[in-house]
Amino acid sequence: MSTAPETVRDTTAERASRLLMDTYARQPVTLVSGSGVWVRDAEGRELLDMVGGIAVNVLGHAHPALRQALQEQAAHLVHTSNLYFTEPQLELAQRLVDSAFESRVFLCNSGTEATEGAIKLARKWGRRERGGATGIVCMEGAFHGRTLGALAATANRRYQESFRPLPAGFTHVRFNDLEALAAAIDDTTCAVMLEPIEGESGVHPLDPGALQRIRALCDERDVLLILDEVQTGMGRTGAWWAHQHDGVAPDIMTTAKGLGGGVPIGAILAAPRADVFEPGDHGSTFGGGPLACAAGVAVMRTIDDERLLENAVLVGDYLSESLTSLAADGMPVDHVRGRGLMLGVGLTRDIASKVTTAALGRGVIVNAPTPRTLRLVPPLILTRDDADEAVRRLRAAFADVEAG
Ligand SMILES: Cc1ncc(COP(=O)(O)O)c(C=O)c1O
Repeated sequence: MSTAPETVRDTTAERASRLLMDTYARQPVTLVSGSGVWVRDAEGRELLDMVGGIAVNVLGHAHPALRQALQEQAAHLVHTSNLYFTEPQLELAQRLVDSAFESRVFLCNSGTEATEGAIKLARKWGRRERGGATGIVCMEGAFHGRTLGALAATANRRYQESFRPLPAGFTHVRFNDLEALAAAIDDTTCAVMLEPIEGESGVHPLDPGALQRIRALCDERDVLLILDEVQTGMGRTGAWWAHQHDGVAPDIMTTAKGLGGGVPIGAILAAPRADVFEPGDHGSTFGGGPLACAAGVAVMRTIDDERLLENAVLVGDYLSESLTSLAADGMPVDHVRGRGLMLGVGLTRDIASKVTTAALGRGVIVNAPTPRTLRLVPPLILTRDDADEAVRRLRAAFADVEAG
């Protein structure tokens, strides 16, 4: 086999641009392995991963419990279709229900697929129980996924514009504007859908008490409450599900991201009232496959075994304080938003993308969901020492940006 001379061999970026559709703004780094909260790139540099595959790698990288579960399951059954029962699927469903509220589960493969299923459930419920109502009231700044229904629920013109017509029946009100929400619910509404903390818009939490008022409003007006816990779930905020901090439960909940610890999986939970699917209404070839479910079981078990909900609060609060204190040291930090290990650092200027690049140079991975926000959604195994290291590196990155 002949090897191309160095001069004509493609760089990684050139190969990617020739082979992969142009949908992501990638950082110029190729990751090859990981361990705990660290990943290693092709040049052998160690990077502290404060993004965790965007709130996915909750156990970090190459966690022994997840590796073992995947290896054992791969040696037995990887896929069966949903025409048969498998034990991992039932065990995961049991764990999900036990962690959340009285419900039954539909398993799928991603966050957007969970959103689609939730929309279908709500619409079927509206047809049956609310005189044919099919409208869904969503929030500005929300992100529910990229497939057409989820995109219609996601009020971001830039994401939507090229793909119209989108499914009809979605309206949007300002996040945290409960008067506008009350006004938007009418006879055509079957559900209200929102994230307890908006992630993609830059980590914006609901105001204290707002979720309880939204729950009460949905009850008064007899519409379903759908909570998208794709990003806030799986212990990230210090409870299994962010809504549990408020002592209320939704009628429908979606989750994905951290559920498989990096293996693609999503889920919809429906309380008895909203559990209206019948045979033939919905399905997914890969959804709830034994490999992904074994991963989900291992992740949920390890979160319990390693007390990662408590860790998310302890280390999250510590990290939040350390990041806040950067402001006092003259760094361009305005404030820190979020809860547990879901943090948004509000900057004083539109330099988030420059900071992410500088941070990479300093060996820490952070993400910039908006020009003025850094997002940190690291693995839930993060320690205080890791947090110190991340802040040290971030401090150096800020200095690099300030130095121009
Ligand atoms: C809150 C929320 N919902 C849904 C999604 C879509 O998930 P996926 O990318 O797995 O389709 C995301 C992804 O970022 C999300 O943050």
